[in-house]
Amino acid sequence: TTAKLPRHFLDLTEVSPGELRNILELAASIKSRRRKGVTAAERPLTGKVLAMVFDKPSTRTRVSFDVGMRELGGETIMLTGTEMQLGRGETIADTARVLSRFVDAIMIRILDHDDLTELAQYATVPVINGLTKRSHPCQIMADVLTFEEHRGPIKGRTVAWTGDSNNVLASWIHAAHCFDFSIRVATPAELAPPKALVEWAKRHQVRLQLTEDPYAAVDGVDAVITDCWVSMGDEEEARMRQKLLSPFQVNGKLMSAASKDAIFMHCLPAHRGEEVTTKVMDGPQSVVFDEAENRLHAQKGILAWALSESATA
Ligand code: CP
Ligand code: NVA
Repeated sequence: TTAKLPRHFLDLTEVSPGELRNILELAASIKSRRRKGVTAAERPLTGKVLAMVFDKPSTRTRVSFDVGMRELGGETIMLTGTEMQLGRGETIADTARVLSRFVDAIMIRILDHDDLTELAQYATVPVINGLTKRSHPCQIMADVLTFEEHRGPIKGRTVAWTGDSNNVLASWIHAAHCFDFSIRVATPAELAPPKALVEWAKRHQVRLQLTEDPYAAVDGVDAVITDCWVSMGDEEEARMRQKLLSPFQVNGKLMSAASKDAIFMHCLPAHRGEEVTTKVMDGPQSVVFDEAENRLHAQKGILAWALSESATA
C-alpha cells in the first residue's frame, strides 16, 4: 500500500468545495448533538493527540482547539514558539519531522505563511493553519457556519468587508469562491488587498468588488464584516492605520446602509470604539459571540475530517 498523504487544512483554496461543505455539515451535526449525552461515536479521536503550536497570542483559537479535541475524545499539547527549540534555530522542517513521530496532528499559529507550508511539506501528519499573516481559514469556516445559521444558505448572497485588508479578509475572499457568494470590500487605497490575492480572485472569477467607500460596499448586503485595524505584526504602523481606517468604522450609520436584517460579524478580538462601536457590537444585528462559539464546532469538523481513517470526501 502507498503511504497516505496527510489531510492538511492550510487554506480554503486547498480543500475542494465539496469537502469544505462536508466539514460544515459534520460541524453542524456535531454541534446539534453536543451535550445530548455523549456516545462512543462522538469520541472518534480517542487516543489521538494534537500539538498546538502558538508563536503568537490567542484566546479563541487556543481554547476552541483544546476543548474541541477533548470533546472528540483526544488530547492536546500546548507549545509556544519561544519554549521550543524552534526559538533557538531548529528548522521548521526538522520540527515537522520530530513532531510527526509523536503526535497525530499539528495546529500552528505563525505569522510567516511560508513557515506553515514548509511545516506541512515535512510533516507526515495533518497540519492545520491556526492563522498566518496571509490567511485564517478556520475562522472563516466558523463564519460561514454562523452566517448560514442566521441567514440561510450563503450561496448567491452578498457580504461586505470594511476596514483593513488582512488575513481574515483573504480567507473571506477564498470562501466567496469556495461557497459561491459575492463579496464587496472597502479599504483605503493604501491598505487595499494584495495584488496576488486580487489576481487569484480574477482568475477564479470571484464576484469581488473593491471600493474605497464603505457606504457603497455595504449597500443592501446580508452581512457587514470587519476586523481590527492593527493585526499581529502591524504594531509599528498603528498610528498610520488608525488615521487611514477611521472612516471605515462600523457604526449605526453604516449598519443602516446595509440590508435591514444584515448581521454584523467580527472574528474578535474587537477594539470597541475603533473598527466597531460598542453599540453595534452589543446591538441586535451582532452575531460575534455565536461566531466565536462556532470556532469550536467548525474546528471539531475540521479535526474529525483531518484525522478520520476512513474519510471519503
Ligand atoms: N479570532 C481569533 O482567531 O481569535 P484569537 O486570536 O483569540 O485566537
Ligand atoms: N487580523 C487579526 C486577526 C486576529 C484573530 C490578526 O492577524 O491579528
